Amino acid sequence: MADIFTPWKIKDLSIPNRLVRSATWEGLADDDGVPSHELINALADLAEGGVGLIITGYAYISPEGRGLPKQTGAHIDALVGPLTRISDAVHKSGGLVAMQIVHAGGQTKADWIGQQPIGPSAMLNPAFGEEVAEMSLMQIEDTIEAFALAAARVRAAGFDAVELHGAHGYLINQFLSPLTNQRTDDYGGSPANRARFAYEVLAATRQAVGPTYPVFIKLNSYDAVEGGLTLEESLPVAQGLAQRGMNAIEVSGGTPAAGKLSPSRVVKQAEEEGYFLANAAAIKKAVSCPVICVGGWRSKSQVEKALDQVDAVAMSRPFIRQPDLAKRWQAGEEKATCISCNQCFKVGMQQGLGCGQELKKQEKAQG
Ligand SMILES: Cc1cc2nc3c(=O)[nH]c(=O)nc-3n(C[C@H](O)[C@H](O)[C@H](O)COP(=O)(O)O)c2cc1C
Repeated sequence: MADIFTPWKIKDLSIPNRLVRSATWEGLADDDGVPSHELINALADLAEGGVGLIITGYAYISPEGRGLPKQTGAHIDALVGPLTRISDAVHKSGGLVAMQIVHAGGQTKADWIGQQPIGPSAMLNPAFGEEVAEMSLMQIEDTIEAFALAAARVRAAGFDAVELHGAHGYLINQFLSPLTNQRTDDYGGSPANRARFAYEVLAATRQAVGPTYPVFIKLNSYDAVEGGLTLEESLPVAQGLAQRGMNAIEVSGGTPAAGKLSPSRVVKQAEEEGYFLANAAAIKKAVSCPVICVGGWRSKSQVEKALDQVDAVAMSRPFIRQPDLAKRWQAGEEKATCISCNQCFKVGMQQGLGCGQELKKQEKAQG
């Protein structure tokens, strides 16, 4: 069994322990993508709680790439100043912070972005049911550039790393998936063509941030929907990314269209924890960069066992309820109190990052 509290590295970034806060949309930015004080404080609290690396909620790279309301933006230079307040606060609290950047593609709503969503192919988005318009080659080029410019802003804003969102049915995943990518040009058709967009985003990002800055990706190991990406296809993509200089891979799976097999599944027993571990272990064997496994970790002993197969684990929901979970585990506690009720999605929509169970407790206490 490996020790959770030993350092490891993504590129030259030394991370003090094996616990990562997986990207969690906080719903705490304003309509222009500017992070609020509450968001900055929540991330500083996480840093104080001892987690090795914080990944922010997904930040949009362009206005039509927004995924949800109240999302943080990384789409214009004017945000570098406001975003710097996040990295400053986390660093002051002794933590490390990466920003996740995303283009939602067709997995958003026209109402939220003020235009028809765009994606690899014209279709009804499988998760949101919105009419998606096919991206032109010019739009693909612009989007790749928008990823690179956003990554450069993340670096300029003092973040320790940038994570590309290549999972959960968003644009990079839409290109990889045969279900949502039915193109017949160089960006579709064969698995190699479907991977082209991800490779070009990485190359442009690397060009924008320089050779030493840590760049990693959250990648779907499979989509868990019929006709979607399979592990057989994601393995060579992971390899291709690592060979092209990806510095780490966070392995996830599922999309919002996958129902019970969504990225945020219900976990009731220890055996259900780490539901992407087998896939993450397969990817780890195929690549030379570090692999982080996300999805359903709740017990220290399960995480310790998993560290024989992957470099680190990432958690989202447990840190919403217990931002100080890392310190608690270091002090000897065994289990997170998160019950995977998924009320955090509703709370996020209503008032921003919060745990439904904790809110219920507070309401009860107030009578
Ligand atoms: C409220 C909420 C917001 C999320 N936002 C993001 C996000 O911005 N980017 C992302 O990659 N995953 C996001 N996720 C998925 C989590 O990062 C994670 O992959 C998933 O919940 C499984 O891990 P867990 O069992 O530790 O929660 C979100 C999950 C929740 C509950």
